[in-house]
Amino acid sequence: MTPALAEATALAHPNIALIKYWGKEDDDLVLPAAGSLSLTLDVFPTTTTVTPDTGLTRDVVELDGRPAGPTTAYRVGAFLDLVRALAGRAGAKPLHARVRTRNAVPTGAGLASSASGFAALALAASSAYGLRLDRPGLGRLARRGSGSACRSIVPGLALWRAGDDASSYAVPVEGPPLGMVIVVADVGGKKVSSREAMRRTRDTSPYYAAWVRSAAADLGPALEALRHDDLAALGELVESNALRMHAAIAACRPPIRYLRPESLMVFEAAEELRVSGLGVYATADAGPNVVLVCRLRDLARVSEALVGRLGQAFAGRIVSAGPGPGARLVPVGTAAEDPARGAPPAVRGRP
Ligand code: DP6
Repeated sequence: MTPALAEATALAHPNIALIKYWGKEDDDLVLPAAGSLSLTLDVFPTTTTVTPDTGLTRDVVELDGRPAGPTTAYRVGAFLDLVRALAGRAGAKPLHARVRTRNAVPTGAGLASSASGFAALALAASSAYGLRLDRPGLGRLARRGSGSACRSIVPGLALWRAGDDASSYAVPVEGPPLGMVIVVADVGGKKVSSREAMRRTRDTSPYYAAWVRSAAADLGPALEALRHDDLAALGELVESNALRMHAAIAACRPPIRYLRPESLMVFEAAEELRVSGLGVYATADAGPNVVLVCRLRDLARVSEALVGRLGQAFAGRIVSAGPGPGARLVPVGTAAEDPARGAPPAVRGRP
């Protein structure tokens, strides 16, 4: 076997948007139609190793110990082409790579994230191919793999501004320590990928233009609420922003409904917990799982109260998370973080 030229391993965590990114201004460059705001979490990291190898005639992509499916393999290969072009290898014979990715979250739990995946891949691949990128450069690269991935480059609260290729990346923002309680409402895979659903919303939803205007208008007040440590103001924007995104999605043709009856029960529970005096607000990405946003110090109280409302059946389907680190390289020979961190027994046990 031909020896590897360079090998790099990187680790990145998923993020959940407080103000959502839903819609592209430019599909190729993955430029968003509006800015977004998120929290990078401290659970479910993705670890990716990229090994360029002159003996390979194509890129070989492995996901959780198995060959990746064709869609993932294609997206990873296209991303590596971009990295190779940036590394000045455009005219040269392509130097293919072996890519091994492990997600700490079990496949099929409905929690795997393209954000942590492409953030880890951007850092590992750029390093393996000899590119030394600063954080904005890494964000711009990760964005080309999956838009939300640019926010996982950054620790904690991250702001991703709309802009052109040079200016659209995520930066850290100050704010109070926030926590998130993820409620797994469904473990099945998505019927429609977020990439396809995003395109369909733009192309067929009569509410798309209104959604983009409203999301852009939410950003300033959300940043202001963070600055003033005003959880009530932030939470109201967060919950309404998510529901507006889902309303725009639901109006697609053919229609897409991500929220299930159980998801709505969790939104309902958040409202009841607020009435009982807890500062907690619900949001949901492109799937049925709901995420409750609260102060970090209230995490345990919120998950207990939630189980009290929804019943013990939910106990094994709740994951608590706090602010997590940005993407980082894992030095050769060191053990990466415990990949099972954050997986509750029931979620961990699912196939
Ligand atoms: C609902 O970043 O996965 O999670 O850029 O097409 O890869 P692509 O989309 P992706 O979309 C994330 C959508 C979201 C909202 C968000 O994270 O802001």
